[in-house]
Amino acid sequence: MLNNDELSERIRRPELFDRIMSPRQAADLLNDGMIVGMSGFTRAGDAKAVPLAMAERAAKDPFRVTLITGASLGHDVDRILTEAGILARRMPFQADPTLRAAINRGEVMFIDQHLSETVEHIRSGQLGPLDYAIVEAAAITEFGGLVPTTSVGNSASFAVLAKKVIVEINMSQPLALEGIHDIYFPSKRPTRSPIPIVACESRIGFPYVPIDPDKIVAVVITQTEDSASNIERSDAGTDAIAERLIQFLQGEVKQGRLDLTLQPLQAGIGSIANAVLAGLADGPFHHLKMYSEVLQDSTFDLFDAGKLMFASGSSITLSPACAARVFPRLAEYKDRVVLRPQELSNHPEVVRRLGIIAVNTALEIDIYGNVNSTHVNGTHMMNGIGGSGDFARNAYLSIFVTKALAKGGAISSIVPMVTHVDHTEHDVDVVVTECGLADLRELAPRERAQAIIENCVHPDYREQLRDYFDRACLRGGHTPHLLEEAFSWHERRVATGSMMR
Ligand code: COA
Repeated sequence: MLNNDELSERIRRPELFDRIMSPRQAADLLNDGMIVGMSGFTRAGDAKAVPLAMAERAAKDPFRVTLITGASLGHDVDRILTEAGILARRMPFQADPTLRAAINRGEVMFIDQHLSETVEHIRSGQLGPLDYAIVEAAAITEFGGLVPTTSVGNSASFAVLAKKVIVEINMSQPLALEGIHDIYFPSKRPTRSPIPIVACESRIGFPYVPIDPDKIVAVVITQTEDSASNIERSDAGTDAIAERLIQFLQGEVKQGRLDLTLQPLQAGIGSIANAVLAGLADGPFHHLKMYSEVLQDSTFDLFDAGKLMFASGSSITLSPACAARVFPRLAEYKDRVVLRPQELSNHPEVVRRLGIIAVNTALEIDIYGNVNSTHVNGTHMMNGIGGSGDFARNAYLSIFVTKALAKGGAISSIVPMVTHVDHTEHDVDVVVTECGLADLRELAPRERAQAIIENCVHPDYREQLRDYFDRACLRGGHTPHLLEEAFSWHERRVATGSMMR
């Protein structure tokens, strides 16, 4: 049982005690057709009690909402809300198999959006207005400011822009998180000033979300911890990709284009990105900095190895073992970590200014370097573009990684033409697979194709791709293709189960 002292430490504005209610009472405030902004970014800092109560309510009293979050949620919330039939529309990212299937059946309208953009759309009235924000907080200050937890994501703008706010006070989130956040909102157009982030460690805003406390209509107390990170362990393939990338970066140092501190690093979530960052711990690099979206285990491994000086992100998503190591010692890391709203962690202006080295994962890449991150066979949504586009277009070095084969070799991740384009050839500088690395900078399309085919394609598919490219070149063009064959690999996979000729 919680005592009043513990609660008063977290809810520092006494009048809000009167608004404490059960998750179900809070869920009952929502109406059919509402637009709801809910906290949660890569499983961190998500609202944990009210969404479950929404599902419970929908079993007897069906209703549907548009649900906007920061990114993916933990605790199977997207599955539970999908199964309860609550999701009419969902944005801007998800990573749940049940929701994915509902999206691909056309039952949930999914809007796949650059993660930096969503709140701009709400702020400008292109999306919304938001009826409710449901946000997790570690505390509410005496002036009504919300202290976020392990993510900021879109929660700060949701709370500021929504008509009403439901706050989940999570007693399991360490109070030591207070002070780690940097909450800033870009000023209004047309007189918007530059965002004053000039270094990873720049702090430009408040350590809490300043809102009108009268908008807080419900306070729900929870004690559920974040879902742990679910990334796969590294394997020989991811390690080989990491090794090639590290060799490439060492080459850049030798050429004098980088020094051993590199440039601020961004790494997408997942095992490959984690392996790349972990590999940096053993290399010659030092005094590294991150300006990224998600801070994973590897961030804290690099801190502990003395290699990383500072990390800016929008969430902290850790494995259980790493969480057990980091959270009790959070105070030791706090002056080296900042969590920002995702529109700032991913802001194109800042990404370009800081000169970020961006490492993101592709589903498939074509011979010219166009990248598909989202659509299997050009039609079926996987997760969404996430922040990859925010970073790739504006990075100093935009690197895409993928294993050369998928589904036990039935699929080549390098194909003649991608079936959906998330990142055009203009946004892709380097492609890495376990087979090799293609440095595409300053290459013309025909040269890019040769670099990708000779370095990145799995040997099982190399001859087949050479044959396609050679025959395409006979037809001519700046970017040669055989239009009638461009998707034949995908068609063959559907017809025979394999892309292999
Ligand atoms: N065609 C069809 N399926 C493919 C494929 C291809 N070319 N390449 C991979 N897959 C399948 C895998 O087999 C796997 O399927 P499974 O879940 O049934 O095992 C699944 O896609 C995931 O692939 P995996 O190799 O495990 O990589 P991953 O977990 O790193 O995910 C992306 C890869 C592209 C789906 C993921 O990185 C993503 O969603 N990216 C977009 C968002 C993003 O970049 N966010 C970070 C920005 S900060």
